[in-house]
Amino acid sequence: MDSFIIEGGHPLKGEIKVSGAKNAVLPLMAAALLAPGKSVLSNVPKLIDLKIMAHLLRVIGARVDYENEQMAIDATTCTCYEAPYELVSQMRASIYVLGPLLGRYRKAIVSFPGGCAIGSRPVDLHLMGFEKMGAKIEIEHGDIIAECKDGLKGAEIEFPFVSVGATANILMGAVLAEGITTIKNAALEPEISHLVDFLCLMGAKIEGKDTSTLTIEGVKELKPANIRVIADRIEAGTFIIAAAITKSPLKVVNCNPEHLKALMIKLEQAGCHFRVEDNDIFVLSAEEIKPVDIVTEPFPSFPTDLQAQFMTYMALANGCSHITETIYPDRFLHAAELNRLNANISVKNGTATINGVQSLSGAEVMATDLRASAALVLAGLVAKGQTKISRIYHIDRGYDKIEEKLSNVGANIKRVLG
Ligand code: EPZ
Repeated sequence: MDSFIIEGGHPLKGEIKVSGAKNAVLPLMAAALLAPGKSVLSNVPKLIDLKIMAHLLRVIGARVDYENEQMAIDATTCTCYEAPYELVSQMRASIYVLGPLLGRYRKAIVSFPGGCAIGSRPVDLHLMGFEKMGAKIEIEHGDIIAECKDGLKGAEIEFPFVSVGATANILMGAVLAEGITTIKNAALEPEISHLVDFLCLMGAKIEGKDTSTLTIEGVKELKPANIRVIADRIEAGTFIIAAAITKSPLKVVNCNPEHLKALMIKLEQAGCHFRVEDNDIFVLSAEEIKPVDIVTEPFPSFPTDLQAQFMTYMALANGCSHITETIYPDRFLHAAELNRLNANISVKNGTATINGVQSLSGAEVMATDLRASAALVLAGLVAKGQTKISRIYHIDRGYDKIEEKLSNVGANIKRVLG
């Protein structure tokens, strides 16, 4: 398994480019199954999760060509409606094929997704929504067996709390359903708005984009479409924090500042300033890092996917800060690894207390999940001496060549194979 070796203390300088958003591409890939013909996604990053999803679409029968930041998906000859355990167990977002398969083929067998390092990750809201739309759902031998012989029917669905995945899945089932579907308490994440854009380009009829109530009028059929994937707000946020923690004059380019407001507000409270020019953010870092408390909540509040990275920044604050994780209360495995680097963090009942220290010191640490590994990279950039991060396949799931991008702006980070 590959590792990163990072020599800390190198300031960063110049411009760092943000790639397309992993969490936008995954639902778009599933949505392409809804129409016969070839859809083309551009600005697609090269990530393990997208390779797994491409493999799953091929198992279902689609032709997928994925290279040079472009993905072409031809779903004309889809014949299989099964998402097997060996793929779903590697990548939870495989559950996204449930909606399109039910919508187009009226049957789907999707392995029941297990948990992961950040929590149990249930899918009960996805299944509740499809049952309300007339699907018969059975769980047998670890598989979700879903069927709607007469097709999905429009329904009124209200989620008890925001779920990005359930909103996306029900959306993709509703666009071919008979009648009107209303989704209440829908997720407001930019990746959902982007999915609505793509589905409308395919011919879907959806009202309420960027609001918490989506109304979908089912149509008989959809056609393939092309779209340029939005910038990855989590990658962009990770690089902004890299600039702040190394106190470097870094410009984060090709991002959408509108998607990063919650992070920028918290970083300004910590003492940072920003110069925003269209799709670029120039980071003016705080000399002294002020402690700031955060609570993770659905968009537009502070995103859980930037919680670990922000914790690394607070590890060097001039005082005590608190992080409350309301989305995944167990999402704190990175705290113990940061403590190996001389941080002073304790976790209790879904809240981390971070007592800032003067400096971090390099050591061997282990990546446990995607965003935790990004937090450890940020720590390595400033820790005194050498930091070795093992199991970095986690980071390759969601960051396209992060070591190259950081090396290009002055970081001393190398990938050690094997
Ligand atoms: C998406 O996961 C993202 N993944 C996650 O990013 C992100 O952390 C999460 O949204 C929250 O923003 C992708 O987009 C592929 P949810 P998702 O359904 O859809 C509970 C990353 O690092 N819940 O919004 O699975 C759930 O357990 C990943 O890129 C149910 O209880 O998240 C969680 O507590 C990690 N029942 C909360 O809702 C359900 O049926 C929000 O989950 C569904 C969810």
